[in-house]
Amino acid sequence: MSLKELGRTGVKVPAIGMGTWGIGGYSTRDTSCDDEAIQALKKGIELGMYLIDTAEMYASGHTEEVVGEAIKPFARKDVFIVSKVLPENLHYANVIKAAEASLKRLQTDYIDLYLIHFPNPEIPLKETMAAMEKLVEEKLVRFIGVSNFGVSLVEEARNYLSNNDIVANQVEYSLLERKIEKDVLPYCLKQGITLMAYTPLGMGKLARNEFLQEVGKKYNKTAAQVALNWFISKENVIAIPKAINLNHLKENAGAAGWRLSRRDVRRISAYFSQ
Ligand SMILES: NC(=O)c1ccc[n+]([C@@H]2O[C@H](COP(=O)([O-])OP(=O)(O)OC[C@H]3O[C@@H](n4cnc5c(N)ncnc54)[C@H](OP(=O)(O)O)[C@@H]3O)[C@@H](O)[C@H]2O)c1
Repeated sequence: MSLKELGRTGVKVPAIGMGTWGIGGYSTRDTSCDDEAIQALKKGIELGMYLIDTAEMYASGHTEEVVGEAIKPFARKDVFIVSKVLPENLHYANVIKAAEASLKRLQTDYIDLYLIHFPNPEIPLKETMAAMEKLVEEKLVRFIGVSNFGVSLVEEARNYLSNNDIVANQVEYSLLERKIEKDVLPYCLKQGITLMAYTPLGMGKLARNEFLQEVGKKYNKTAAQVALNWFISKENVIAIPKAINLNHLKENAGAAGWRLSRRDVRRISAYFSQ
């Protein structure tokens, strides 16, 4: 697995991690596929995708419970857990409560990276950032970040921090969704903030793309592997595809550890700009 530095923390994380939206249910708890999901997450960790992205929102908290079960056999330091606080929980006391509840569901003592899931203009960001720093001070969280934040909001959030910095912004980014290349991506690159690309396979659509299949033939790789390797070529970007199917998981892990040529990266970027 290729590793990349998280922000300017000196800590390295896998360039390809695992998403969990839909695991243990979507908006509500669904336990019917838990065993399959636990096996899939364990397998993914073994394959090197040991960064797991989850959220209190997913399956009303059940996804975090599934992640908690999946990581049990591993040493805590050998997995990297990302979770997120809901926008309605951004008042100071609620951020602390939400993180404590996530820790309980995850059955762990700390979250590696805690993100504000979406901005909430109704709640002062200053208050939220103070709570995020408190979580770091209390060692409940190692690093803090944001999700779905534009440049000016990231800057505002950073201005409220005294002892920490934003290390990641998780946003939608794929060959099918490139809006952030205009502003968020260059800003993050300049400021040493990791961009975590969500929905990196366009919900699976890119895995069926004929152009990517064609490019992949040269490398003996699949379309999904080419779509994910395209992120590896970008210095500060990591991707978090979600896969429960074991073949998908193996394929996604095999998206790292090799490189598309610079020429092919340019060709792919140009093809999807049309
Ligand atoms: N911060 C946010 O607001 C936000 C928003 C959306 C998503 N996210 C995070 O980002 C993660 C990923 O995004 P996503 O789940 O929306 O979309 P995605 O990762 O682009 O696509 C997931 C879909 O692609 C399929 N898939 C995965 N690998 C494949 C492969 N190698 N070949 C063919 N199909 C493949 C999966 O099928 P199987 O499951 O059947 O294998 C699943 O149906 C989420 O799970 C979540 O953790 C965050």
